[in-house]
Amino acid sequence: MAKESFQKKVEKNSVLLTVATLIVISIGGLVEIAPLFYLESTIEKVKGMRPYTPLELMGREIYLREGCYGCHSQQVRSLKDEVERYGHYSLAAESMYDHPFQWGSKRTGPDLARVGGRYSNEWHVMHMNDPRSVVPESIMPSYSWLGKTPLDYRKVSKYLETQRTVGVPYDDTDILMAFTDLETQVNPDHENYDAFMERYPKASVADFDLNPDQITELDALIAYMQMLGTLVDFTQYRPADDYR
Ligand code: HEC
Repeated sequence: MAKESFQKKVEKNSVLLTVATLIVISIGGLVEIAPLFYLESTIEKVKGMRPYTPLELMGREIYLREGCYGCHSQQVRSLKDEVERYGHYSLAAESMYDHPFQWGSKRTGPDLARVGGRYSNEWHVMHMNDPRSVVPESIMPSYSWLGKTPLDYRKVSKYLETQRTVGVPYDDTDILMAFTDLETQVNPDHENYDAFMERYPKASVADFDLNPDQITELDALIAYMQMLGTLVDFTQYRPADDYR
């Protein structure tokens, strides 16, 4: 019998074949994964991004608690019809402070990545209380209790601390001031206003739920909605030269 080729030998020996297969696959894996451990960041830095304000962060918690992500995505894909409808496609940097991110996978309702500033606070209050009062054909459930439920923000600084442990760059002042910053964002006359705006540029300050008597969960949720997609100025944004 003629001498068997190396290939035939490997094909007939299952152990040898398994080992050889594993070696080949791991080369591919290493080439893809290893560089990620050496790059300082895989996310292109973009001007304008800042961590959430304490009120926005608590609004985001309500968004998670209520499962809004079950019907809404937060990711504009780079497809023509999406960009025409929602605006500039989402950048990785725009969710760099999202833990966990809210890209979502289902759109029963529209994408919310750029909903900030699209509607007035009044519209959001009406829409959350009764979606059909502003969009008659809407199938979105109403969330009328949010405007009646006081926001429990006694531990807001803990939320910021938790975010810091996973890499969001809140400093000691941000954490110390979180409680006051939260109250400032619903009251433009607050004495802390200037310091707050310096810490959180472009933050929108308003009595979001239109109820001056108390800070409610609706205040937080609308503050969060109103900032989505508003931080990066796309009239100024140019993709980095090495990115086409
Ligand atoms: C059962 C699915 C469903 C859930 C859950 C849901 N929505 Fe919606 N949402 C919709 C649909 C459908 C629309 C489009 C009709 C309308 O505007 O009401 C919509 C519209 C919206 C809009 C207007 C978007 C735009 O660009 O016009 C906002 C803002 C919004 N939802 C926020 C929320 C928030 C916040 C939550 C969680 C508290 C939530 N939704 C939960 C289905 C849902």
